[in-house]
Amino acid sequence: MSIFGNILSLLFDSKQTKTPVTTRQLKAQKNKATWDKMAANPVTTQTEVIVEDIQNETDSIRTLFLTPSLAPSDTAQKPVSQHFHPGQFITCEFEVNGKKLKRAYSITSAEQETNTNGKLQISVKKEINGVVSNYIHDDLQVGDRFLIQGPSGDFVLPDSAERIVMIAGGVGITPFISQLRSQPENTESPGPEILLVYCCETPEDTAFRNELNRMARSNARLTVKYIYNHGQDAKRLSPEKLRLILDDWCSDPIQLEQNSTRFLLCGPAGLMEMAQESLSQQQVITERGIPPENILREAFFTAGQQNHERPQSEQPIHFRRTNKTVTALPGQSILDAALQGGLEMQYSCQVGGCGHCKIKVHKGDVYSDEPNCLSSNELNAGYRLACLSYAASPLEIDA
Ligand code: FES
Repeated sequence: MSIFGNILSLLFDSKQTKTPVTTRQLKAQKNKATWDKMAANPVTTQTEVIVEDIQNETDSIRTLFLTPSLAPSDTAQKPVSQHFHPGQFITCEFEVNGKKLKRAYSITSAEQETNTNGKLQISVKKEINGVVSNYIHDDLQVGDRFLIQGPSGDFVLPDSAERIVMIAGGVGITPFISQLRSQPENTESPGPEILLVYCCETPEDTAFRNELNRMARSNARLTVKYIYNHGQDAKRLSPEKLRLILDDWCSDPIQLEQNSTRFLLCGPAGLMEMAQESLSQQQVITERGIPPENILREAFFTAGQQNHERPQSEQPIHFRRTNKTVTALPGQSILDAALQGGLEMQYSCQVGGCGHCKIKVHKGDVYSDEPNCLSSNELNAGYRLACLSYAASPLEIDA
């Protein structure tokens, strides 16, 4: 059904029920249909969005409110919960100084919010040498457009957990704010007990602080603890401090070791390493330590940067599983060459962070940008990321 058909059916329904349909509702419905279409095929659908509003959360973090700019070509409806799962990210493509640059950002809106006003939010920190984040903070204006793709990622709340401990550092709060905004505020509704340990430089540097305080006041199941690195009573999070916070929150440490309690970590690498190590070791936080499968991490990743000259000649790439050969043009990634050659490829972030485009190189030389999310074991076993890798000789790929 076209968007016009969708609007007509809404008007028709409104006549039947005598309920007036406002322009705003129609717009939200149209936006929802576009998000539905995108969520139905997150890997291949690129959607153009308009920046409807910009809001500063702190001096260095700002939120963009986005709505789709295109009418959807069909209106396959899904419940709103299937738009995205709170904690997922989208990949954004900006044109900065004539170059197309992609970055992945966590969605910060609540899932129900996307349904009611049709807007999707992302919150971006201005990084000192961040080309894209500086562009977003200094140049991007309300009314500007860019492409997004996704949602992607599996940093989502486990369905079965009775207790959830979130440990956030700085802008690592972004997936958690979406998850918290998506929780029912009514404590009669089923839902987990949640502890948020939020580490920031100073109170002024704490994004969403007022909103988090309001949530904690109105939701008895939510506890928020702030840890500041600077200022009065500043104390970085340490294993001992984490243990005291957890002891205070959960009177029976045995419960922390059970599958009904899950730990989610998102923040700078040092904070996540410290938290993961102290949680999983014996006799640091709990007697036996938290089972590794109950600790979920969302790594911050820097988009892969070019660290080699791009290969200057065309190269054939043979894909073993499909028995197809494509040609990589000079400067073309293996992923782009495969897609241009008509191959079905798994991919999402295209900046080296999600691992969806992992391929195994059987023969030939490949240059790969760094950093990327592959482990040293995967690299040693011949795995590469197709989005950040370039053929320097004829290749044979297991994909
Ligand atoms: S598409 Fe995400 S790492 Fe390549």
